Amino acid sequence: MPPLLALDAVVKDYASEAGTFRALHGVSVEVQKGEFMAIMGPSGSGKSTLMNIIGCLDTPTTGTYRFEGTDTATLSEGALAKLRNAGIGFIFQQFNLLPRLSALANVALPMVYSGVASGERNARAQALLASVGLADKPRSRPSQLSGGQQQRVAVARSLANNPQLLLADEPTGALDTRTGVEVLGLFRALNEQKGVTVVIVTHDPEVARATNRVVRIQDGLVFYDGPPTEAALYGHAEATA
Ligand SMILES: Nc1ncnc2c1ncn2[C@@H]1O[C@H](COP(=O)(O)OP(=O)(O)OP(=O)(O)O)[C@@H](O)[C@H]1O
Ligand SMILES: [Mg+2]
Repeated sequence: MPPLLALDAVVKDYASEAGTFRALHGVSVEVQKGEFMAIMGPSGSGKSTLMNIIGCLDTPTTGTYRFEGTDTATLSEGALAKLRNAGIGFIFQQFNLLPRLSALANVALPMVYSGVASGERNARAQALLASVGLADKPRSRPSQLSGGQQQRVAVARSLANNPQLLLADEPTGALDTRTGVEVLGLFRALNEQKGVTVVIVTHDPEVARATNRVVRIQDGLVFYDGPPTEAALYGHAEATA
């Protein structure tokens, strides 16, 4: 069985008027199905760039990215869109909920795109809301929910199509410690009970401590990849950055 994700010598260049900026300098990482891991590193080190590539929202400039053994460069736009919608759940720092839709409609939206009939969609969205502790809030708009509740709606939405991979970029950054711990607990439960692979970008050593593997990047390069030891969590290089 190939790894779920395999990046090999991935380089990412951003072009701008000022010239080309190399955000990733040759990143090679493999992630096995069922892993629960953190990506850490200073601001601007390339974490979100890496997540965008892993989530098929962007493509490497050079190097290869394989998803379940398939080189993503060989996939059509349609195949990539399908992979993003059905295979991968995204959770962002700022929730990215649609403000005019209810909590229920936000959770149901990915199922609209994947063609689930409306009755089943709404039943499933309600069940997902219940699974994140929001059974009583289906009609609330995002603005009527607390930050932690909005993030839980975002978690429920990311699970709408039963993804095998969950990508979360600073999912607890906007939350207080306690709510952050709750959201992390939801990820852990999905990982343990459903085998969902979870990759979390975080600045927070306490979030990373709850994972099984830490990948640290700096200046677009991996400089640590291993268990969440104290040195890994409080990376020396980052402490002096
Ligand atoms: N679209 C873009 N065009 C040009 N440069 C970009 C673009 N996106 C990111 N960069 C640059 O690439 C580098 C990596 O950015 P990235 O967003 O991946 O960092 P990050 O590690 O996620 O940082 P943070 O912790 O602040 O979110 C930064 O120097 C950034 O300025
Ligand atoms: Mg970022």
